[in-house]
Amino acid sequence: MRFICVVDNQALAGSGLREEHGLAVVIATDSGGVLFDTGASPDTLAHNLNRLGIEIASIRCVALSHAHRDHTGGLAWFLERRGRVPVYAAHEDFLAERYSCGAGGCRAIGLPLAREQLERLAELHISPEPQELLPGVWASGQIRVRAYPEGHGQGLRIMRNGKLVPDPYRDDLSLVVAGKDGLTLICGCAHAGLLNVVWHVREVFGQFPVQLIGGFHLGGLSPDELSLVVAGLQEVGAPTLYPNHCTGERAIAVLSQAYPNGVRPCPAGTTLDL
Ligand SMILES: [Fe+2]
Ligand SMILES: [Fe+2]
Repeated sequence: MRFICVVDNQALAGSGLREEHGLAVVIATDSGGVLFDTGASPDTLAHNLNRLGIEIASIRCVALSHAHRDHTGGLAWFLERRGRVPVYAAHEDFLAERYSCGAGGCRAIGLPLAREQLERLAELHISPEPQELLPGVWASGQIRVRAYPEGHGQGLRIMRNGKLVPDPYRDDLSLVVAGKDGLTLICGCAHAGLLNVVWHVREVFGQFPVQLIGGFHLGGLSPDELSLVVAGLQEVGAPTLYPNHCTGERAIAVLSQAYPNGVRPCPAGTTLDL
């Protein structure tokens, strides 16, 4: 199986891939591909898939880490071309309105299409339970136990009964790939908290992942919370880390210092054999 980073905030130098604040990943298997997240815009997803030689027809299903637009911006474009394939999400909150609120007001950042549109374009599967998407590739299901710091962002809200309230990110979903060297965990934004997802994987699959890839959303943590995450990662076997997207530069610097050989870059164009 092969991991391919299709869209990220950064692209491999000289790759000709576009950069944007967003994430999209493909897991290519003998049974076809899984598209995990779709970047922020149709243009970037289209350009990068094409540049990487990934045929849209080879993708068998889509899994979405959560509703935020930097992960769902290319979804409608992709489904219109691919036709009705299964789309997986972890919780009904995936369909709720989401906002980013600050001094200047609130801006919509949720799923850019309505439920009816999505159901017309795709076979929608919303389930809090872990699901095998293709042989060896799993959706984590809902991350319920959250003993470690979560990846909250300032001002991120969800609409509930006509009111904007702090988003508990119940739709946070990650991918788990059972590869030749063990489990690989791929996060979208890890809003549920990186270590909470890691422990969830252990609970469901009976082992800790040996490598963690994706947006870890650690930028909002205090230095003490970040130390807790560093210590927590040691405790789960010091997996190799491939932080990208929303992890945060300060957090990447702290992790790199704590794990001198264990932190690797993961811009668009990165491929890993799993
Ligand atoms: Fe997010
Ligand atoms: Fe994100």
